Amino acid sequence: MNYVITCAAGLESILKKEIEIAGYQILSSWPTLVRFKGDFSAIAKMNLRSRVWNKLFLELGQHITSDFNQLFDLVQGIDWKMYVQGNPIIVSAITKQSLLTSTPTIQSITKKSIVKKILDGKEWQLPEDHSKEAIDVLVYIERNMCSILLNTTGESLHKRGYKKATGEAPINEALAAGLLLLSGRKFSEPLYDFFCGSGTIAIEAALLAKNIAPGSFRTFAFQQFKRYDQNLFTTEVISAKSKVMLSKQHTIIASDIDPTMMSIAQENAKHAGVADYIIFETKNISDYMETPELAWTLVSNPPYGLRMNTYDLEKVYHTITELFIKHPKLHGGVITSYEGFLPEDEWWTRKKSMLYNGGERCWFYKKTLLK
Ligand SMILES: C[S@@+](CC[C@H](N)C(=O)[O-])C[C@H]1O[C@@H](n2cnc3c(N)ncnc32)[C@H](O)[C@@H]1O
Repeated sequence: MNYVITCAAGLESILKKEIEIAGYQILSSWPTLVRFKGDFSAIAKMNLRSRVWNKLFLELGQHITSDFNQLFDLVQGIDWKMYVQGNPIIVSAITKQSLLTSTPTIQSITKKSIVKKILDGKEWQLPEDHSKEAIDVLVYIERNMCSILLNTTGESLHKRGYKKATGEAPINEALAAGLLLLSGRKFSEPLYDFFCGSGTIAIEAALLAKNIAPGSFRTFAFQQFKRYDQNLFTTEVISAKSKVMLSKQHTIIASDIDPTMMSIAQENAKHAGVADYIIFETKNISDYMETPELAWTLVSNPPYGLRMNTYDLEKVYHTITELFIKHPKLHGGVITSYEGFLPEDEWWTRKKSMLYNGGERCWFYKKTLLK
């Protein structure tokens, strides 16, 4: 079986590593998309364990389509009764450099064909039970190659389910996990986040360190597929639980200038079951200038952009630079779109990667220690 998985731009390399570690074969990749081959249990395994992905799609059919009849036939060839049991069906479409250009027509032809197949060729209207979650089908056409994709995840995977409240500009969970993996942090090293807000980076760091599956807090679309074998999911849940390492020692320090954000972060950490593994402190970043020695990894998302212009950004970024100069053993990375952040050390500028946070283009400035 083939799968297509989506992620935020800039995280593709980590995504590919995750797929390979899980033992699956990568078929191809594009910006924000990776296609791979796996067995049926990949649906439960990857949805439960993935840290940087957004959605996992099962490829139900793929063929060249140059007209709408071919699209209709491709959709007819799929056994929709395997997946749908009275659920509403939502079809979306993306088409690039192809003969079929009208997305509304692609959507309506696909839906007509699905309904006809489910009703065994009868042209009636399909009764939809709106108390059930919708089945989400994506028709992806690129250079006339059409893939019919079924969303197995439901709501994007970056919504883990543990954040009950957030601040003004929270980072999404999948991106936070991606930054931790990009930072090169070793689990034996203490991790700092000096601008923790609702706690996302610190919580993701604790989940990673304890090897807690990030999908443990939510349900998935595949769980309501008509013929999905729930035992496959139960087996994966048991296997993921057996790999949790709660007794391993880690130091994770999360601080923020705003005491309200500290309470929110602590509450979110409780929901994720990791509050006992994070040290929370209300602190201004400038307080760290008094600390005699700061060693090891910082992964932080300081204030930036229009939403957060109440802060003295110039002072905040000057303090970050000063901290790295004062503490040569401090390394890691900072994600920001603030153009006034111009760290002079060559190691910062050489290692920056472009990422998107909430649709805003940012840079992850990374500092590695000189050997
Ligand atoms: C972009 S938000 C961080 C969002 C966080 N990553 C999350 O997921 O919720 C920036 C945070 O920096 C904090 N902040 C602003 N100035 C600060 C300072 N001088 N020292 C420490 N924290 C500060 C704000 O209170 C805010 O929570």
